[in-house]
Amino acid sequence: MSPLRQNAEAQQILERDTAHLLPVYARYPVVMDHGQGVYLYDTSGRRYLDLMAGLGVNAVGHAHPRMVAAMADQAGRVVHLSPLYASRYPGELAERLCALSGMKGAFYSTGGSEAVEGALKLARTHARQQYGLHKVEIVALRSSYHGRTFGSLSVTGQERYRIDFGPGLPHVHFVDRNDIAGLREAVTANTAAILMEPVMGEGGVHVLDHAFLREARTLADAHGALLIFDEIQCGLGRTGVWFASDRSGVKPDALILGKPLGGGLPLSALLVNDMLFDAFGVAKHGSTLGGSPMACRLGLEFLNIVDDEGLLEQVRETGAYLMANLQELETASDLAVEARGEGLLLGVQLNVPARPLIEAALEEGVLLNMVQGNVMRFLPSFLLQREHVDVAMELVYRLLKANVPVMPDTLVAAGV
Ligand SMILES: Cc1ncc(COP(=O)(O)O)c(C=O)c1O
Repeated sequence: MSPLRQNAEAQQILERDTAHLLPVYARYPVVMDHGQGVYLYDTSGRRYLDLMAGLGVNAVGHAHPRMVAAMADQAGRVVHLSPLYASRYPGELAERLCALSGMKGAFYSTGGSEAVEGALKLARTHARQQYGLHKVEIVALRSSYHGRTFGSLSVTGQERYRIDFGPGLPHVHFVDRNDIAGLREAVTANTAAILMEPVMGEGGVHVLDHAFLREARTLADAHGALLIFDEIQCGLGRTGVWFASDRSGVKPDALILGKPLGGGLPLSALLVNDMLFDAFGVAKHGSTLGGSPMACRLGLEFLNIVDDEGLLEQVRETGAYLMANLQELETASDLAVEARGEGLLLGVQLNVPARPLIEAALEEGVLLNMVQGNVMRFLPSFLLQREHVDVAMELVYRLLKANVPVMPDTLVAAGV
């Protein structure tokens, strides 16, 4: 890790973090103070162009004035209530999400993993009620990512995340992405649900074939299994349409959302169709902090901002421009192998570790992100414009042209 180049206050903050926070994240040597739009500022006032937006959460940038106003107003009213009492915003947000997605109802929780847990429980209880105790299997994809809790980890198709924590949930089968024959083999009368991300994010940024999604729908219908789409990363406008699966025309039975949904506050949603609306029943599932008035109000404000500022169109436009730049990189640099993705969920696979490049970019004031050790992933705010892409790409070209520093084997092995 390159040394911290900030002030003494930042040094102290990092030292305290190192002493008291579990060393779970391979963090970067920088201490942030505040953000504005597509920029973050560190404690010494240095500005960074933010192309990872809090791992895709800060979709309308930092400190958007409408988000700030909504948050301040709601803070003076009520922040949290418990799901046992009604208030204005949870239902309004659910109504809006259902109108956008064609689903029937929503269950709120906090993070993405918790919503995936809910989806797995829902699949099990639905299968049990409708078909009996044998129907417990889940079919998921290799190199998928669904979260870190036991259930969500068990359906995450990456051995390296599961290996230290087994045994996980039994009865999970993994299939390669876009492998229609493999999917046909894996889905049987015992399948409770087929789970997939229409655009796989953490697994390296891969857009699933529409034919594969259609086949999943056909198989789910033929075998009485649920089709569940995890759009925690690719949903809510990230790919330039409200839901990435919209492009395929395939409707899932359940749709999982998270990341930007609470405008930066923890909020995830499990949306379900008519058939599943009553599947949980009363007191079978819950979440103390899920769907707070504050998070739901911010969720609504986020959706309104996307509409009012024409951000879906902007995502499509800026995304296409960034994608064209990444494709040019493929031809311009021997180190860039393949550009992939949709909208502003883009990645470029390198044939060298990405971390040194990302650390070098940080030093030059651009925040990049990576997955799988060698895929530079772009998850910027929807506010990103061409001029920002130009700044970032000039830097990426320059860094790739210069000799990218060698990375320690330990970090390569950890895939960070
Ligand atoms: C597709 C997908 N599912 C689930 C999760 C887990 O969400 P969380 O980290 O909020 O628990 C993520 C997080 O990156 C994700 O990208």
